Amino acid sequence: MRSYPLFDVFPRLGVFPRAGLLDGITAVQPMPGADDIWIKRDDLSASDFGGNKVRKLDLLLAQARARGRKDVLTFGYSGSNFVAATAWHGRKLGLATQAVLLPQADAPYVADNLATGLHAGAQLHLARGNAAAVARAIALSTAKLLRHGRVPLWIPPGGSSPLGALGFVNAAFELRAQVESGAMPAPARLYVAFSSMGTVAGLAIGLALAGLNTRIEAVQVVGDDFASAAKLDRLIRRTRQLLRRADPAACPGRVAEVRIRTEFFGRGYALASPAVKAAMSRFGSATGARSDSAYSGKAIAALYADHDAGALRGPTLYWHTFNAHGRPAGVGPLPAQVLASYVL
Ligand SMILES: Cc1ncc(COP(=O)(O)O)c(C=O)c1O
Repeated sequence: MRSYPLFDVFPRLGVFPRAGLLDGITAVQPMPGADDIWIKRDDLSASDFGGNKVRKLDLLLAQARARGRKDVLTFGYSGSNFVAATAWHGRKLGLATQAVLLPQADAPYVADNLATGLHAGAQLHLARGNAAAVARAIALSTAKLLRHGRVPLWIPPGGSSPLGALGFVNAAFELRAQVESGAMPAPARLYVAFSSMGTVAGLAIGLALAGLNTRIEAVQVVGDDFASAAKLDRLIRRTRQLLRRADPAACPGRVAEVRIRTEFFGRGYALASPAVKAAMSRFGSATGARSDSAYSGKAIAALYADHDAGALRGPTLYWHTFNAHGRPAGVGPLPAQVLASYVL
């Protein structure tokens, strides 16, 4: 199967170039030890550095190259999967990455992502707070313009622009093809982490466009200043506009139902409650797959909580978004004193 079934159905969307970062489709597998739950293995989306972000970057970095850009600038928490993935995949495409980072609580994946980004040559800059981050990004872009005569392409946090979200409209078509080929029954519910919102926005549009009647359980893992129902509506509206402009037939009249679940956020970003830790270890023992305390661990905790309460209704899909590989081959561990400067 090709990686872009959406573009096979709507060939006019071919105006959006792709960089070829994805390793084809990601598997749908039954969850060991649980009837009626399946896992979408986006952790294996690329063989060197996977996770959900590669679907967005495949379009975003292709656009940067198509526009003749040499640099991209993005934002995230210091252990951001997106920043590491941008630096790693961007370098393969000849793009240099600058990122403005907010310090965060330490967690095991943070050092790996920082090591990956730094190894890929990313320039990482710390800022204290959102306003300071934007001011820093403006200063970095101005300096680049004065010194090199060009500005970096700004990519929003998590790659969640309408173009990035398109990667997940396509992912829904990938899922439909897997349902049609018998990998799982059509899911009644889909559990996924909800942060910069591009994953959920793209899936909400894509599931409806693909004719799948699936409710999304969007497990919120960041504060309301970054993710909310109103912000999601706006991103969905902008993504539908992008689709409509390219091909009116590719813009569905409605989107899938989304239920935002805030009760697993806990004490804060990347902080794991005992329930989240238990869910991560149960998932790891069942599947052998890695998860993280900021995103996937909270989505898994929601899934298991609903499962154990007997609240799942029909076939359920857990969309596993964390990169499976940790540090890619050749990337060494991050020295402790470097890590210390990026975490709270
Ligand atoms: C591992 C992981 N899962 C899920 C998400 C959430 O995706 P999105 O930012 O599109 O809401 C992210 C991104 O922040 C992530 O890094």
